[in-house]
Amino acid sequence: MSRRKKVYEGKAKILYEGPEPGTYVQYFKDDATAFNAEKKDVIEGKGALNNRLSEFFMTGLSNIGVPNHFLRRLNMREQLIRQVEIIPLEVIVRNFAAGSLSKRLGIEEGTALPRPIVEFSYKDDSLGDPLVAEEHIIAFGWASQQDLDDIIALALRVNDFLSGTLYGVGIKLVDFKIEIGRIWDNDFHRLIVADEISPDSCRLWDMKTGQKLDKDVFRRDLGNLADAYTEVARRLGVLPANAQPVTKPTLIN
Ligand code: TMP
Repeated sequence: MSRRKKVYEGKAKILYEGPEPGTYVQYFKDDATAFNAEKKDVIEGKGALNNRLSEFFMTGLSNIGVPNHFLRRLNMREQLIRQVEIIPLEVIVRNFAAGSLSKRLGIEEGTALPRPIVEFSYKDDSLGDPLVAEEHIIAFGWASQQDLDDIIALALRVNDFLSGTLYGVGIKLVDFKIEIGRIWDNDFHRLIVADEISPDSCRLWDMKTGQKLDKDVFRRDLGNLADAYTEVARRLGVLPANAQPVTKPTLIN
């Protein structure tokens, strides 16, 4: 493993050079961060859960014809993905108000939105991933108008797929973030879904109780993050129904 060439290290994942040209190995860390890494912890089991969950969602997207970077899982923490040129945008789709939208516009969390809202943030940690308009994206050359139209269409297809899949297991998809990559074929390029789709990058609420099953559990100190992700995985059939929560028993003395 140490002989592999590291290509990139982010807050939750590492990319290594892949075994075949045009591939990377994506390694999921147990590290959790929030608020641009102001809050940090290591959550045992998170990397393995996100590896499985991202595989599950990306495979489902492939099955309905939504192009994405996933090739195959390699082991507990690693998957083989296609090498892409990441567009420096976080593409956010919202079905219900929450998080920064609620804060920014004073809309109560959980309010149903009249239609899915697609937002863009410029991916730059030193600036805190600021919200940007299509005008900025085109003016600064991060993507063309045609790319943006394609990105929005992709994001809405992902939204429909994820919303329906999660609805089937009693989970409401409040919002999520995806990243888009470019793959080149001579002078032409195609846009595909990249990065990851996991409870790190979604808001997932239990349909009946409203219980949070996503990274807000960590951001807002609501309990054990790996237990929440285990519940999502168990419901989706990604883990056996009798999978044990990862929380260690508390010793009483
Ligand atoms: P927000 O309400 O904080 O803007 O988050 C919107 C969605 O994007 C939510 O599902 C969480 C996800 N997200 C990330 O994946 N990475 C981030 O860095 C942030 C801030 C949000």
